[in-house]
Amino acid sequence: MSTDAIVLLKVDHKEIKAAFKQFQDAGDRAFSAKGKAREKIIELLTVHTYLENEVMYPEVRGLLPDLTDEILESYEEHHVADLLAVELAVLAPDAERFTAKTTVLIENVSHHIEEEEEDWFPKVRERLGRRQLAEIGERLLEAREKAPHSPAQPSALKKSIDAVLR
Ligand SMILES: [Fe+2]
Ligand SMILES: [Fe+2]
Repeated sequence: MSTDAIVLLKVDHKEIKAAFKQFQDAGDRAFSAKGKAREKIIELLTVHTYLENEVMYPEVRGLLPDLTDEILESYEEHHVADLLAVELAVLAPDAERFTAKTTVLIENVSHHIEEEEEDWFPKVRERLGRRQLAEIGERLLEAREKAPHSPAQPSALKKSIDAVLR
């Protein structure tokens, strides 16, 4: 299996987008299905943003400092997603704002994923060697072992607090 960092992160993106589709395909009043899709979305996003915040972004920033603006913007986009995820985690699926909040989360994250995949990951691919991307990928796989799965876990909260204070 490839340990190329960009390949691994794109696999995550695919899974996240599949969970978005699961939500969007659920009927308007299919509250149980929408609630389940919400759980899946939040779990996948919590793991994925942790991996990018803890490994991918700092590694890339260190190696390619001229991508700092893109990376700082990405941290902020993760932070917005974290806030929405925390709010969404406690909403009942039949609450008035549930679908609206989930839709805004989906729109924000879809835009963010598109920027990563179309805009700055290609620059990273162009400028880092295969070996460097494989090494970052190894570290992503290690970090996945200890990644939080819920926004209420301390390591997920720490990541949100760091995003505000750093
Ligand atoms: Fe990201
Ligand atoms: Fe990503």
